[in-house]
Amino acid sequence: MKHKMAIIGYGGMAGYHHENLQKHFPEMEIAGIYDIREEAVQKAREKGLAHFDSPEQLYQNKDIELVLVATPNDFHKPYSIACLQSGKNVICEKPVTLNSAELEEIISVAEKSGKFFTVHQNRRWDKDFLMVKKIFAEGILHDPYVIESRVQGSRRGLYGWRAWKQNGGGMVLDWGVHLIDQMLNFAAPQKVISVSAVLHKVFAPEVDDNFTASFRFESGLNYIVNVAMNSFIVQPRWHVSAVDGTCLIQNWECEGKIVKLSDEKSLEWTEDIVYTAAGPTRSMAPRPKDTTVELPLPEVTGDWQDYYRNILAVLEGKAEPVVKTQEALRVMKLIDLVFLSNEKKCGIECNI
Ligand SMILES: NC(=O)c1ccc[n+]([C@@H]2O[C@H](COP(=O)([O-])OP(=O)(O)OC[C@H]3O[C@@H](n4cnc5c(N)ncnc54)[C@H](O)[C@@H]3O)[C@@H](O)[C@H]2O)c1
Repeated sequence: MKHKMAIIGYGGMAGYHHENLQKHFPEMEIAGIYDIREEAVQKAREKGLAHFDSPEQLYQNKDIELVLVATPNDFHKPYSIACLQSGKNVICEKPVTLNSAELEEIISVAEKSGKFFTVHQNRRWDKDFLMVKKIFAEGILHDPYVIESRVQGSRRGLYGWRAWKQNGGGMVLDWGVHLIDQMLNFAAPQKVISVSAVLHKVFAPEVDDNFTASFRFESGLNYIVNVAMNSFIVQPRWHVSAVDGTCLIQNWECEGKIVKLSDEKSLEWTEDIVYTAAGPTRSMAPRPKDTTVELPLPEVTGDWQDYYRNILAVLEGKAEPVVKTQEALRVMKLIDLVFLSNEKKCGIECNI
């Protein structure tokens, strides 16, 4: 038997879900879409999809088990709540809501409904992120104390609703939510004990188009999340400082390397003084080559299809959603503090 799913908001991202479901998950059938834009309805028709004339028509359809909410961000909460109340399970696109209070409202409805509610945090399956996880899970490096996770470009374009505050635009909610979700997934179960953030509106009139947020964990780990739309020389996607070495992942293609101490004796520092153009230095002198080894980044098999494999298993009562509401809530609580830190112009202590 096929599982019937509907989509609310048939734009760019919904089209991506639809294409992937068609290609990889014949068990899932898209029963129809709802969108307020005639062009989107037309596009759905061309792809052979039915459309609902109103959200109520979708809610009343008893065959639909699952709804994907893929509208602009400010509509996530009302549609998610209405779908849950009409007995549907819900996958909501990220950012799940505009703040943690809105998500708490959804969670309380979901708990009463007996249906599941989950968020599409697909970047947990990114190859570069899985590499960083593997480097520490397999003990290639140990004890990271600074992690820099950056997504940068210079296109300076916040298109459509992404540029407007009312719609939940801006980079903290757009990309920050992915990078913070990755961070918590990496560092769980450690807690964040302070957040310090600076947001910029370099070219967008209403929302942040560049930001840096620094999260201090109870272990002392400093995890820096940076998103820039105005970076004409991009910094690496990842730079990780661990006690016994450093990892660099340059880009989405995952070019990079690990450089680590060749053995424990490598820590014994020579007394050489190096004469740079500006004068002598011992502390910053380059280390002798034979005291380090260079390793390739580990092989990983990231597969985003696991997200929908999990959804199918949940629909069949065989699993819990892999992206849990309490995980999404932690992300949104930290996002609240990113905005608060920027507004107050200081770091904010917490225990999240
Ligand atoms: N997980 C990811 O990697 C990823 C990537 C891109 C976008 N997204 C998320 O997906 C969502 C949609 O983004 P997009 O890039 O597809 O945007 P989009 O503008 O391409 O599509 C949004 C669609 O929603 C429709 N819509 C607007 N208001 C509506 C309403 N009130 N009721 C019904 N339909 C409405 C629009 O007509 C449009 O077709 C956003 O929440 C975004 O953050 C996630």
